[in-house]
Amino acid sequence: MSKVKALIFDLDGVIVDTAKYHYKAWKALANSLGFDFTEQDNELLKGVSRVRSLEILLEIGGKNFDEQKKIEFANRKNSEYVGYISQMTPDEILPGVTEMLQSVKDAGLKIVLGSASKNAPLILEKINLEHFFDAVIDGNKVSKAKPDPEVFLKGANAANVDPEQCIVFEDAIAGIEAAQNAKMKTIGVGDPQVLRNADAVISGFAGLTVHELLKMV
Ligand code: BG6
Ligand code: MG
Repeated sequence: MSKVKALIFDLDGVIVDTAKYHYKAWKALANSLGFDFTEQDNELLKGVSRVRSLEILLEIGGKNFDEQKKIEFANRKNSEYVGYISQMTPDEILPGVTEMLQSVKDAGLKIVLGSASKNAPLILEKINLEHFFDAVIDGNKVSKAKPDPEVFLKGANAANVDPEQCIVFEDAIAGIEAAQNAKMKTIGVGDPQVLRNADAVISGFAGLTVHELLKMV
């Protein structure tokens, strides 16, 4: 493969575990509409945009609403979610992430964020990791959701590297697919059964060196 020049990190589920906050806020919305929303249901929303997440949730509840109501519901869920993430601190960075970002930087590689979330800038600020990133591409900067490759292609472009020179770290199936659609190497973060299409899968960054990661793909 061509020499790796940039590592692209997803945010939710890779750098921080925000799925629990998304879950609480979606569950509150579902309950207010008269149906339940389980943690297993929440798995379907990982890596998926806010609008699409709402559609999936309403399908689960067997509900249908007009566009104006849907916007109101998405806004309501987001207000609750923002309430949770506003309280986040650097303590919530997943194990080994900060050390890994430092060694990636020391190795002279570019670091890019590739997230579907429109709240990514707020989370990065709260956990105090903004300074590591050469480029941040989030839900405010893309029009096509993962598995479309747009977010990662824009990330490579912003970091001034070719897609073939990037490795993407993702916890969601849609994210692995997006990276592959961008012709990038992929390392899944999570369960190898779920992320079986990735080139390699790790359970997290703790105890790994950047050189070990580079050798995996
Ligand atoms: C992704 C999450 O990173 O961002 C999804 O995995 C979420 O669960 C999506 O729906 C959009 O996030 P936000 O913060 O813009 O609602
Ligand atoms: Mg994710």
